[in-house]
Amino acid sequence: MFEIRYKDGAGRGGVLYVRGRRLQTPCLFPVINPRHQVLSVREIAELGFEGVITNSYIIYRDPELRERALRQGVHKLLGFDGVVMTDSGSFQLYQYGSVEVSPGEIVGFQQEIGSDIGVILDIPTPPDADRERARRELQETLRRAREASQIERRMLLTGTVQGSTHAALREHAAREIAKLGFDVLAIGGVVPLMEEYRFADLVRVILHSRRMLGHARPVHLFGAGHPVVFALAALLGCDLFDSAAYALYARDGRYITAGGTFKLGQLRELPCCCDVCVEHSARELLSLEKEQRERLLAKHNLLACLEEIKRVRQALYEGSLWELVERRARAHPALLEALRVLKGHTSWIEPQEPVTKRSAFFYLGPESLSRPAVARHLTRLSWIELRGRELVLLPEREKPYSRSYRLESSELYHICVVSPVFGVIPLEVEESYPLTQHEGVALPDGEQLAFVRRVVAEYARNFLRVHCHAELEFLGVGEVFDEPSLFRTAGSDELKLRALADYQLGSGAGEALFAGARAERSRRTNRIRRAFVGEELVATLRASDGMVVPTIAGGLRLLRLPYPRCRVVVAQEAREFVRQGKSVFAKFVTDCDPEIRAMQEVVVVDEEDELLATGTALLSSQEMLELERGVAVKTRHRRR
Ligand code: GUN
Ligand code: ZN
Repeated sequence: MFEIRYKDGAGRGGVLYVRGRRLQTPCLFPVINPRHQVLSVREIAELGFEGVITNSYIIYRDPELRERALRQGVHKLLGFDGVVMTDSGSFQLYQYGSVEVSPGEIVGFQQEIGSDIGVILDIPTPPDADRERARRELQETLRRAREASQIERRMLLTGTVQGSTHAALREHAAREIAKLGFDVLAIGGVVPLMEEYRFADLVRVILHSRRMLGHARPVHLFGAGHPVVFALAALLGCDLFDSAAYALYARDGRYITAGGTFKLGQLRELPCCCDVCVEHSARELLSLEKEQRERLLAKHNLLACLEEIKRVRQALYEGSLWELVERRARAHPALLEALRVLKGHTSWIEPQEPVTKRSAFFYLGPESLSRPAVARHLTRLSWIELRGRELVLLPEREKPYSRSYRLESSELYHICVVSPVFGVIPLEVEESYPLTQHEGVALPDGEQLAFVRRVVAEYARNFLRVHCHAELEFLGVGEVFDEPSLFRTAGSDELKLRALADYQLGSGAGEALFAGARAERSRRTNRIRRAFVGEELVATLRASDGMVVPTIAGGLRLLRLPYPRCRVVVAQEAREFVRQGKSVFAKFVTDCDPEIRAMQEVVVVDEEDELLATGTALLSSQEMLELERGVAVKTRHRRR
């Protein structure tokens, strides 16, 4: 039902198939009040929304609506022929403490009125509830979830994670909910956190829940309808959102933007170019009758939400979601604090982060140093074979550094540029993503200096002798020199190739793939294009991001690495497809190297470890094992 197409951070740009319809995710469902709708459902459909969410409990409790819904179905009732999701009355539970319907009845009712995606009657325990209450209510939510998961289904069904702000309860809830075979997984009980701008707590709740929900199913974040959080929540793997905020805020005369909310009365300008804001001035809007003003404001608010969702999807496609999140974090200190919470969760996020992207890494402030791409770089540095060389540290110059300095690493010297974004960048790998494709600032800030000191000191420990350029004397490592040309010796292509393979594919990959290799360089740019061992082409180097792309001969050499290194294993039934050059679908993947990241080059083998093809993983190792739909590996070379 769910397919992942693009990835960034732990976020996914995907497709959810709902009863013959396709929804692009992340996706926003405007909340429709079946009794009173400020903005007509037709207008909402015309704005381009493919799905809406409404409350089945309101319909159930209103004799007239109920009768019509049962007779015509919920789509006709609302006048919407896209995807209709229905909530269960849980929100009324949170507001009024009780509802007059049984958990089984309301799920059955959602199904009877033809909902596309229904929701169980979970109990939304508010934040900071004492542990005993949170535990007790969670037990009840889980009991209802188990019961609901048993019914025969004609709609997709959503199971909700509760547990208030207690980490252990959230984790337990998510593990249990994930086991029950729901089609959509949801994180609930966060509306008060949104309302009170407690975004750091919101992020903690999302993380504690999300980590245990796996990768195969879409995740709905209930009640997070303000665009300031879309990018951040999407980065953490939330795929579906609902917004009542557009209408609630309009009622209060509040004007939503992705950079924050304004009181209409305080605006001299309408900083937006939607129809509403082009056709009216702030003063005109204020002078309108209440109902008219509310309608126009709701329309603008909803468009502001839609615009941000589209921006998030585009960022997922091009790989700039971290940058978007960091920009949004500047809207309010509470969002900045939320961003900083991510720092402690790299071990969960990093495996989901692709190894190469369409867009460059932009340093946008100290928080950028906590991105998983930086932590990953430091890990991968330790995979490069150093072979007892001496370390040479140089200050940053124009990229490519080896050209600026006219230097190459050699058998004698391991030459690195000190980078205020990545710490140290060995010349051998400088053209590998994200190192070439990054933009920093010429005047490093205090955090960067502290970071560089720490990384350099640690890295220098691997060497018996360290040479440090005079401009970097402040680092206090090694013997100081002035003249970089001192270290000009004949470079070695084999060494460079081996370092690249180690860095990208793990330690030992260089030896396996490139022992005895020679390089062919581009005549125009002098960059390495192809690598041969003897007469055999074993790999090409992709110009755009420096990725080592193994051929079949190269793939065979990589199989010298112990199982399951670099491998994606496919079921016997998929062998022939792969040998014909077709993509590897996730449902046929039976095993793989746990270190595989999305966009990494991999070797596809059958269950006897016979090579079938080489290609690019589009998913992380965990995703390929869990997902049942979509492409896991796009094959490039097949074995003939
Ligand atoms: N709407 C807002 N919060 C919640 C929640 O926790 N559960 C459900 N089912 N709906 C919600
Ligand atoms: Zn507008």
